[in-house]
Amino acid sequence: MKILGIETSCDETAASVVLNGTKILSNIVASSKKIHAKTGGIIPENAARQQIKSIIPVIFQALKQGVNLKLNRSPSTIYNSPTIDAIAVTIGPGLIGSLLVGVETAKSLSYIWKKPLIPVNHLTGHIYSNWLYDLKSHKQNTLHKTPNFPSLALVVSGGHTDLVMLKGHNKIKWLGGTLDDAAGETFDKTARLLGLGYPGGPAISKSADDYLTHHSTSFNKKLSLFPRPLLNKNNFDFSFSGLKTSVLNELKHKKLNSKKIQMYSAEIQEAITDCLVHKSILAAKMYKPKSFLLAGGVAANRRLRHKLRSAVKNMKGCTFHVAPADLCTDNAAYIASHAFFNYHPAPWDRITANPQLSITD
Ligand code: KG4
Ligand code: ZN
Repeated sequence: MKILGIETSCDETAASVVLNGTKILSNIVASSKKIHAKTGGIIPENAARQQIKSIIPVIFQALKQGVNLKLNRSPSTIYNSPTIDAIAVTIGPGLIGSLLVGVETAKSLSYIWKKPLIPVNHLTGHIYSNWLYDLKSHKQNTLHKTPNFPSLALVVSGGHTDLVMLKGHNKIKWLGGTLDDAAGETFDKTARLLGLGYPGGPAISKSADDYLTHHSTSFNKKLSLFPRPLLNKNNFDFSFSGLKTSVLNELKHKKLNSKKIQMYSAEIQEAITDCLVHKSILAAKMYKPKSFLLAGGVAANRRLRHKLRSAVKNMKGCTFHVAPADLCTDNAAYIASHAFFNYHPAPWDRITANPQLSITD
């Protein structure tokens, strides 16, 4: 089954065709990050305007690459139904203006092309990056292992941080999450305090990597400048707002140079990833999953991937899974994959964007 995925929850306009929930036939992402870098963060209306500009070209590009849809400039092209079986679209959470562009476009195309339409939660969608493989980069499929249930998943994105157990597809139990800021938001906000650009996660990650390459690996253990909130609490909650305030206080009246920025980046990255790894392993010890799935934009962070991979390696009977970095950040391939494994089409007039959706909705 070939599903066209559409994802417009924030500042990426994405479309992808995925075969049987696993094989990526096309994956197109247009990002408006450069525009938001100029304003130091996302202005929702600007993001929505960019979504409108990109949505049709991105979808048609994905169909051209994925199922060889022939296009010309004639408006009647829209009536050429492509050889796909269904359309999947992110309905939330996210920015309402951005979400509406994807949802309303998907509804129109589903109506015109007479294709079933599957609404997808962006957060559970992220988890399915672990079912995907790219025909170009994984030709032999040797690198790809299908995760076994029950799975423990850590979903870390710009606006959410959740630990969940999956007994099977669509059988999800929430274990814990952030009480305040999300992990990605903490990267973004502290990066701004350091004068690094938007988006902050990749900027801090790069700056920290520069620092760590000049120090021995054992040096990581000495990075303890910032607090690790809730670490000694026997639950699966996270809290990052105190860490953010601590960075703010530390940087007050400090003159920053590039060496200091690198050092602070490594300290911030170590504090955030310590919290994420500690609670993940606590949950893994209690729930004894067969697989651990790391997902969401922050899963692109090299240090987090390394620390979690090493920690899960020591756990008998549990495999570690994380997708290549470009499949962790927002794209539509995991939306199509989610729809394949949780195939619940809905009438187009019952599908609405919901910016407040939680991971268990
Ligand atoms: O999932 P995502 O692409 O979009 C949302 O659904 O929010 O996640 C975006 C978040 C941003 O906060 C971004 O700074 C963070 O993921 N991020 C990273 C890295 N790449 C993206 N954080 C740390 N290290 C990275 N390499
Ligand atoms: Zn996301």
